[in-house]
Amino acid sequence: MYSNRIQQAYPDNGVFAVYGAGGFGREVMPILHEQLLRQYPNISELKNKLFFVETSPSKNEVNGYKVIPEADFLAMKDVELYFNVAIADSQVRQAISERCLNGGAKPISIVSSDARLGDENEIQDGLIICPYSIITSNVKIGRFFHAYMLSYVAHDCVIGDFVTFGPRVSINGNVRVKDHAYIGASAVIKQGTKENPIIIGEGATVGMGAVVTKDVPANTVVVGNPARPLENKRDHRSL
Ligand SMILES: CC(C)(COP(=O)(O)OP(=O)(O)OC[C@H]1O[C@@H](n2cnc3c(N)ncnc32)[C@H](O)[C@@H]1OP(=O)(O)O)[C@@H](O)C(=O)NCCC(=O)NCCS
Repeated sequence: MYSNRIQQAYPDNGVFAVYGAGGFGREVMPILHEQLLRQYPNISELKNKLFFVETSPSKNEVNGYKVIPEADFLAMKDVELYFNVAIADSQVRQAISERCLNGGAKPISIVSSDARLGDENEIQDGLIICPYSIITSNVKIGRFFHAYMLSYVAHDCVIGDFVTFGPRVSINGNVRVKDHAYIGASAVIKQGTKENPIIIGEGATVGMGAVVTKDVPANTVVVGNPARPLENKRDHRSL
């Protein structure tokens, strides 16, 4: 469970992996770096604790950080392994998180110092919140949630596991976003009520810029204002 009220303390022998050195990974790494500097102020020591991990790296280094294969990360000895997965594909994210947990690594939540979190939230492990995103109050969020920059989740929302928000997503109060849903950039979801929340179904995709006024069925892609199903969808998860 993540708490923004408790300063996390990591052991001296902690090492930290960001899975994925692609676009999102390169955005997330400096957030984690800044977060860890509060505990490990020696920058050169910290540089040796932070890695990108890829299944089969095509480069040894990205943006000054080593890129190591997963096998090497999970085989490290005499250290405590921490990881998060900066990969938008939620199924890949789940598979990696399960391999890491089975391999003895622990999830680390990555929360920008420019993000805001309110009161009485219940947030599970593996959170990534980018700059200027806001989780207000009385919100529940499942495992390995991603909020890119400038997004918000308002009061009384319930967000499932492995949910992904693109940049500038607006989720108003009393909305339920089920597991593995993907909400595209600048989408807006109308507020629901306690009795009748708006529900974004499991595995649904809300296209960029959509204005969602009604429930979205599971595994459906919606676009437009008001949002309507997009026929003949391709696999969107690597977009
Ligand atoms: C909705 C989405 C998943 C559809 O992807 P896709 O299945 O590859 O769809 P295509 O690009 O083939 O487009 C299919 C049709 O839908 C239209 N369309 C696609 N996305 C749309 C959107 N967000 N709003 C309105 N229309 C859209 C296209 O113009 C096209 O119309 P046409 O058939 O008349 O030419 C994708 O466009 C999208 O919005 N992804 C989210 C991207 C995002 O937010 N990225 C954040 C990166 S951090």
